[in-house]
Amino acid sequence: MWLFALLVTLFYGVEGSIYLPQKLYGEVTSPLYPKPYPSDLETTTVITVPMGYRVKLVFWQFDVEPSEGCFYDYVKISADKQTLGRFCGQLDSPLGNPPGSKEFMSQGNKMLLTFHTDFSNEENGTIMFYKGFLAYYQAVDLDECASQPNSVEEGLQPRCQHLCHNYVGGYFCSCHPGYELQKDGQSCQAECSSELYTEPSGYVSSLEYPQPYPPDLRCNYSIRVERGLTVHLKFLDPFEIDDHQQVHCPYDQLQIYANGKNLGEFCGKQRPPDLDTSSNAVDLLFFTDESGDSRGWKLHYTTESERVRVEHGFLGNLC
Ligand SMILES: *[C@@H]1O[C@H](CO)[C@@H](O)[C@H](O)[C@H]1NC(C)=O
Ligand SMILES: *[C@@H]1O[C@H](CO)[C@@H](O)[C@H](O)[C@H]1NC(C)=O
Repeated sequence: MWLFALLVTLFYGVEGSIYLPQKLYGEVTSPLYPKPYPSDLETTTVITVPMGYRVKLVFWQFDVEPSEGCFYDYVKISADKQTLGRFCGQLDSPLGNPPGSKEFMSQGNKMLLTFHTDFSNEENGTIMFYKGFLAYYQAVDLDECASQPNSVEEGLQPRCQHLCHNYVGGYFCSCHPGYELQKDGQSCQAECSSELYTEPSGYVSSLEYPQPYPPDLRCNYSIRVERGLTVHLKFLDPFEIDDHQQVHCPYDQLQIYANGKNLGEFCGKQRPPDLDTSSNAVDLLFFTDESGDSRGWKLHYTTESERVRVEHGFLGNLC
């Protein structure tokens, strides 16, 4: 028995760690299972599954010396720097704390199983034999998009600035309309330098309207409708662009061009008058600086044919 214990000790080490190769599933057993496990042992089995997965572990057999509080022999499960439980005993022993069919889940891709045994397995002077345990683990998808406050320090929390999409084994980010995903795959940058509107009517607004618009914008919203049509602009409330009492629109401004001709530069809280641009090509340039907290603007544009306009004008003159 001594030689046997010595060999086991040499093989597993008294306080050793066993690193299982990274796999999608596997089993973990006590040393020598299903033969009785040796005494005076502490081994930690490190289970690793690929990144983007979590570890799920379930015990199929469990027979470890029972004791109050699992003080002598025990199996301890931990993951994400937390202990998920400390177990000993048999399924129906009054002492101890057997795991039953409980499922253990990690947040990250790692789980540790520590098996500790003391110097003897004796009860009332009789040597007892315990078979130990058999557990199976498998990789299950980690939903990176669900919030996982505990795993932040493991670097597992995705940092999608706008939208997060989970898939089996990973995730990807996307951005709200008007923004572009940056090279880091996570942050979103406003991109409105060439927005084109070709429908005969529609709405155009600053990003996030009526929430404050982002800083450092260089936007160009172009309305291009058929030749022979003319574009009308009608601004809606609220209209709010950072301004200054003495200087005309020094911070942020909305410039309106029709056929290349400047129709005005706007800011402040007074919405621009309804504009008949007499043009089928309108550019709205919106520039913002690095600060501010204004809600932006929104307009409804409509088109009318030149011919109808002329007729109306003619009738108008008659009356
Ligand atoms: C050991 O002794 C205690 C108290 O005398 C008794 O309750 C228990 O059943 C005994 N255990 C075994 C395995 O004989
Ligand atoms: C805005 O976009 C239109 C259409 O592409 C283009 O003709 C115009 O030159 C642009 N204006 C600026 C200031 O970039």
